[in-house]
Amino acid sequence: SQDRIAVIVGSLRRDSFNKKLALALEKLAPPDVSFAYLPIDDLPLYNQDDDATPAESVTRLKDGIRAAQGVLFVTPEYNRSIPGVLKNAIDHASRPYGQSAWLKKPAGIIGVSVSATGTAMAQQHLRNILANLNMPTLGQPEAFIQANEDLFDADGNIGPHSQSFLEGWMRNFIAWVRAFAVATGKAG
Ligand code: FNR
Repeated sequence: SQDRIAVIVGSLRRDSFNKKLALALEKLAPPDVSFAYLPIDDLPLYNQDDDATPAESVTRLKDGIRAAQGVLFVTPEYNRSIPGVLKNAIDHASRPYGQSAWLKKPAGIIGVSVSATGTAMAQQHLRNILANLNMPTLGQPEAFIQANEDLFDADGNIGPHSQSFLEGWMRNFIAWVRAFAVATGKAG
């Protein structure tokens, strides 16, 4: 059967390295796995007053998460944390209280920076948030990636230096998602 992964990219930048990374990872996924990119650029700023009357974009985000077997966060690091646009999306889909779309969805975290820290500190902050949302999050392998000339080839595939590492990362992430599908009786 087809496994659907909801992908949330934490950058709205047109030429985002993280968007490129997500698209390249999709090509490393097994053929029975599909990526569904959930847009977050049209979400309003979260306001608890609107919980009872969510914007259409919020309902769409929550439906997209619920329809997926797992969630992949591909995010840059902004000032040693996750970008505000990503936190805004996470907060939206976590509410109203008791109706979080994130609950028990297995998750993976990955990201690319222009600096050598490779989004490590943003990833640790995100782990803290996902723990609160009760999302079982892949612990190992960790992937801290720096954008350099050979990260991607001319066709947008992962370049030769990182290919086998990221192939292995994807294999572990998909196995993680599938293990939780079995645990909750949603396999097959
Ligand atoms: C950054 N950048 C950055 N990089 C990093 O490794 N650690 C950091 O704390 C920050 N902080 C930061 C703050 C803000 C507001 C911006 C705009 C950028 C640089 C970041 O790695 C770079 O802009 C990436 O290109 C962002 O990812 P996308 O948009 O290419 O996916």
